[in-house]
Amino acid sequence: MRLPVPRGPISEFLIERLALTPAGRWSEPPPITGDPLFADDFQLALFVAYELHYRGFDAVEETWEWNPALISFRNQLSGAFEVALESKIERLPVATGEVESRLKTVASADAGPSLSRFLESHGTVEQFREFVIHRSIYHLREADPHSWVIPRLDGRPKAALVEIQADEYGGGDLTRMHSFLFAGLMEALDVDPTYGAYVDAVPGTTLATLNLMSTFALHRRRRGAAMGHLALLEMDSSIPNRRYADGLRRLGFSHEDARFYDEHVEADSVHEAIAAHDLAAALAQQEPELASDIVFGAEALAFVESYFGNHLLSAWERGRSSLWEATTART
Ligand SMILES: [Fe+2]
Ligand SMILES: [Fe+2]
Repeated sequence: MRLPVPRGPISEFLIERLALTPAGRWSEPPPITGDPLFADDFQLALFVAYELHYRGFDAVEETWEWNPALISFRNQLSGAFEVALESKIERLPVATGEVESRLKTVASADAGPSLSRFLESHGTVEQFREFVIHRSIYHLREADPHSWVIPRLDGRPKAALVEIQADEYGGGDLTRMHSFLFAGLMEALDVDPTYGAYVDAVPGTTLATLNLMSTFALHRRRRGAAMGHLALLEMDSSIPNRRYADGLRRLGFSHEDARFYDEHVEADSVHEAIAAHDLAAALAQQEPELASDIVFGAEALAFVESYFGNHLLSAWERGRSSLWEATTART
């Protein structure tokens, strides 16, 4: 992946440093400003800092991954992101045995207008393309963030997480790997399936959906939140994915084109139970002090997803593109 184009002083500072050779030259970073939840500049900087742990960037030295100055800067960003999330999401006490029912409550709460309902019955091919471009930031690395948590768990929850992740990676069969299926969907829609191709095209609202997973999964202290996030992701998957598949077929796409979504309808009806019961509830039994953070992780996912959905739907309602480049080109 190429280094993205900066969107303001914070991302510019980081991206300029990473482009320097030899690696490691640092200077005083700019003050952290802007809304840490969704601002483009802030979210891009956090995305870039985390990407060094995933696949990195072309021509950026790999030693940056553990550069102490960079990590300290990233901690400031992720810390501000976490504080902002805590300020928006009410954290209520959760009893150990209550985790599964609380997750079900989050899953059944209707947080706002439904993106999947819109795409099922009204979405155009162009809107599907945009949707897939936004989602490519995660789906082309599907399952990777939560995999960071595997070595942080033990016993039953670990077995449950590995069972889910094994399916996400296609059980050893590349052609069933969810990220591979997503690349196939992108090709069917005539958009570029290259990892990271659209980072410059998506707004902070979209980058926040991935940064949330990375923040939870890359901090061991947030392993409860990471697993609550995964549980809700699985619990809230079958119905929207069926709608996306139906929407594509309504537009004339084939079963093969919609396979990514069809696979999720089936796989996640199984994952949903494993994630809620064998993973999240079992983790709370094993480590009761994580119960509240497990539910918080699910609430945080619902929160960023409602912003994401509203962003797309309100742009489309105004007859505009929801992509970042297009947004800025018009303002
Ligand atoms: Fe998946
Ligand atoms: Fe799944």
